[in-house]
Amino acid sequence: MDNIISSTPPIDIDLALLSDILLDWYDVNARDLPWRTPPHSNQFSDPYHVWLSEIMLQQTTVASVIPYYEKFLNRWPTVQDLANAELDDILSTWAGLGYYARARNLHKCAQIITNEFHGKFPEDEQELVKLPGIGSYTAAAIAAIAFDRKATVMDGNIERVMARLFNVTTALPDAKPELKKIAEQMTPDHRAGDYAQAVMDLGSDICGPKLLKCTGRCPWENYCISNALGTSEQLPNRLSKKTKPTRRGYAFWAEYKNHLWLCRRPETGLLGGMMEIPSTDWIESDDWNDVPTPQIPIIANWKETHGMVRHSFTHFHLELKVIRLELLEMIDLQEGDWFPFSRIEDLALPTVMMKVIDHLKEPVLDL
Ligand code: ADE
Repeated sequence: MDNIISSTPPIDIDLALLSDILLDWYDVNARDLPWRTPPHSNQFSDPYHVWLSEIMLQQTTVASVIPYYEKFLNRWPTVQDLANAELDDILSTWAGLGYYARARNLHKCAQIITNEFHGKFPEDEQELVKLPGIGSYTAAAIAAIAFDRKATVMDGNIERVMARLFNVTTALPDAKPELKKIAEQMTPDHRAGDYAQAVMDLGSDICGPKLLKCTGRCPWENYCISNALGTSEQLPNRLSKKTKPTRRGYAFWAEYKNHLWLCRRPETGLLGGMMEIPSTDWIESDDWNDVPTPQIPIIANWKETHGMVRHSFTHFHLELKVIRLELLEMIDLQEGDWFPFSRIEDLALPTVMMKVIDHLKEPVLDL
């Protein structure tokens, strides 16, 4: 009975049958990806390839990752090559993928594997998760895909699949432990890597957040409780969003002869390690009257531009007013550096900073 989940409406489902159905579907429908071995091949992917792809796939789509994955493997075919590379070369090859802390951790992790593990990745999830840049999802993915270890990958996509399959109506984030338990019960004892990648493919290609493409395509269509009840589109259940606070600040656009002043954000925290147009602290406030007048950070003529830049992060809205600093000569900066405009695309600035750049091209007037 352990292997049976009771749900509403009362229904008993054989989980082993469900995982076999998914594996049969994967045998025919697996995406052909450069880091994958074909389903059912008893050859497992090289742990270095799996690790590299999984780090790149954190917060990034498969389509964007493929060219970077190939570039990295051509340049550094083994984990030892990567460990011996210069960090700056890794960072510049990474440019465009964003979230640079991942590239720094990639280098640190390659050095640990090379120097402390004789170039061999540990096979166990609990050991993997201790390495820099490897969280629980990545550890489970590496253990399953590279080492055929039974391990359950869990992210937002897989939560959605499980919530719909069993019509779990508890709201997120409270539903997380329940969904994780279901996903663990669903994980079969055999073909660990194929099963992990099959649920990933199902979550990204068929059981998507908005566009549900189940009819005639989902291997679990006839077993999916929310599909029978017509509730799939409302799942997973998210509590109605609290109104987000607004933070406000001033950004400093300092430009001299086609060069722009940019700084790197701290490694940890929001937009960790990414480049930015320097700004004051972003202060939570109900209106601009509560935001202190900014101290101009370098000696220059300055004026405030019209309007403001707006951007929403997960936990807050941001409003930035932009101050344009006119320099008569290029000065030495205490923080950050001057970057030619022609290099800005390579720096992969976060979206909010690209909005500041667009704003300077086309100031938005507040009506
Ligand atoms: N997303 C994260 N890991 C993945 C993988 N191994 N295959 C496809 N999509 C993924």
